[in-house]
Amino acid sequence: MEPEEPTQARISAEIAAAHRAAADPEEAAAGHPPRAFAPYRSSALRHPRQPLVAAGGDPEAVERGGPVFGVTDVTDLDADLTAQHLGEPIGERITVTGQVLDRAGRPVTGQLVEIWQANAAGRYAHRRDRHPAPLDPHFTGVGRCLTDAEGRYRFTTVRPGAYPWRNHTNAWRPAHIHFSLFGTAFAQRLVTQMYFPGDPLFPYDPILQSVTDPAARSRLVAAYDHDLSTPEWALGYRWDIVLDGPAATPPDPEDPR
Ligand SMILES: [Fe+2]
Repeated sequence: MEPEEPTQARISAEIAAAHRAAADPEEAAAGHPPRAFAPYRSSALRHPRQPLVAAGGDPEAVERGGPVFGVTDVTDLDADLTAQHLGEPIGERITVTGQVLDRAGRPVTGQLVEIWQANAAGRYAHRRDRHPAPLDPHFTGVGRCLTDAEGRYRFTTVRPGAYPWRNHTNAWRPAHIHFSLFGTAFAQRLVTQMYFPGDPLFPYDPILQSVTDPAARSRLVAAYDHDLSTPEWALGYRWDIVLDGPAATPPDPEDPR
């Protein structure tokens, strides 16, 4: 028999308890969500149960290698999610840009940034997404670009909608864009999510709330930037990403989508 689906009240109580018990203030401040965060139900099944293996020998050696993507692998069209089909997608057109930085605040240049997201109705163009919201024939929701000489990335897309998921009864994810960054070394690999300011769903979402430090959580929320908005065209959001160090952008605990 299926266990009874928890209510939002129970999940919210668990989130509050987890925040109170955020045992290691240093870890919390670094923004790393715990590997198992009970209110985020599926994390209990997927997190590693053995201690992580330290990079053997010279830890610096880990920093020397990294994936390499060339300019010929990525075209300008890849960064415009509104121009990948014959027609334009439905939704609020937005520009999302920011700088990718390392722990010393240096721009991380020429690196691959990938994004994926739901459409304006909150539906992914993915066979496993059964949310009964419309697919958009003009929106795939996948983009990528390379950071420029100042470490900047830039995407044109539509604002994604919130969507329901099966974590608990009446569970809805706040609108978000998934980001994957390779950085210049494997130790800088970051998979995370960007949120939109002022979303009323923040307190209810166990994935965002798995980052127990409020300051670290706020680093996952983009800023609306009126100067970045383009007249008659698009609203602008700015979101800087720090790959490692104490001010690092918190990773996604393990959301597969
Ligand atoms: Fe998602």
